[in-house]
Amino acid sequence: MTKIVSIVGARPQFVKLAPIHRELTSLDCEHIIVHTGQHYDANMSQNLFEDFGIPDPDVNLQVGSGGHGEQTGRMLTAIEKALLSIKPDKVLVYGDTNSTIAGALAAAKLHFFVAHLEAGLRSHNRHMPEEINRCATDHVSDLCLAPTQNALSILRSEGLASRSVLVGDVMADVCISTMRSVTANPPTLPKGVPSEFAIATIHRAENTDAPGRLDLIMNGLAQLPVPVVLPGHPRLVNKLARSGKKIEDYGIIEIPPLTYSDLIYAVTRSSYVVTDSGGLQKESFLLNKVCTTVRPQTEWPETFAGGMNCLVEPSEIPRYATREAAVPAEAHPFGRGDAASHVAAELMR
Ligand code: UD1
Repeated sequence: MTKIVSIVGARPQFVKLAPIHRELTSLDCEHIIVHTGQHYDANMSQNLFEDFGIPDPDVNLQVGSGGHGEQTGRMLTAIEKALLSIKPDKVLVYGDTNSTIAGALAAAKLHFFVAHLEAGLRSHNRHMPEEINRCATDHVSDLCLAPTQNALSILRSEGLASRSVLVGDVMADVCISTMRSVTANPPTLPKGVPSEFAIATIHRAENTDAPGRLDLIMNGLAQLPVPVVLPGHPRLVNKLARSGKKIEDYGIIEIPPLTYSDLIYAVTRSSYVVTDSGGLQKESFLLNKVCTTVRPQTEWPETFAGGMNCLVEPSEIPRYATREAAVPAEAHPFGRGDAASHVAAELMR
């Protein structure tokens, strides 16, 4: 029986893990989940495992928060020990977080086969920690699993063609199936969410860590013509607190980070979306909601189709967030919801 280890640690990785776990366990495979412990609050971690019905991780390394070197270093040491004891046939790492690079590097140095899910994405902004993580992970991996044609072209242009394959985007799998289930059984919106609202999420280091920029973003959101609901990511809440501020001080409605299905439902009920999250840019696109992204670049240019996504500076939020856009007629750039089965087939090859 093939032994495959998934290394995860941060919120978006638990979303990607859900369909992969389902596919792998339907095959002749032992799937072992290693959680680095990068995210540890219940609503950033355990609640998502429960929401998706993923079993508790087999191993939790409990590394917690810290500076990049410190956090990644603790992960490397702990992952190396875990892999030596598990002795997997293959290791799967997800996305672009510190847990991704630590997992890939530890596995590659031990000569375990490493596959990178969501390979080939580039913002071309090397000041983003995620850009360093994704470039380095692609280049130490034995198998690069590209979510889009664009990502595959980037891998080819970097000399990685022979180990790259297009599988589709597993986040589209999850989004499409969750949309069906919340349409059939709508959850309740969190307390305090009005009937008409925009949904915003802000958590990237580039936006939260410079107090001036963060203040501009929050003021931009505050000027929108409908109430803004914002699930408070811990990084955002902590950084605002350092300037003695709270989300509510801007007249924005704070709600706790949502489970995935609650977030998808909230997006379907919202007027439009403002975000700096990669996942939410795609989810808005798949759910036909106009999205405004507060970043200078995106790894997901496919979402520009029909003007459904656009990139803005903080001061431009009020001008662009309320724009009209044309829902793209024939667009499946992220696959048709069956990416996880292609990933599983590649891993079992
Ligand atoms: C990480 C990823 C980012 C991803 C995001 C999703 C990296 C470099 N970044 O960013 O790509 O989009 O996850 O959420 O890996 N904290 C808590 N509770 C938690 C986790 C974090 O309070 O459960 C606080 C801590 O103060 C911590 C801060 O949030 O220092 C940042 O957490 P960290 O894991 O370093 O990065 P994220 O900003 O979450």
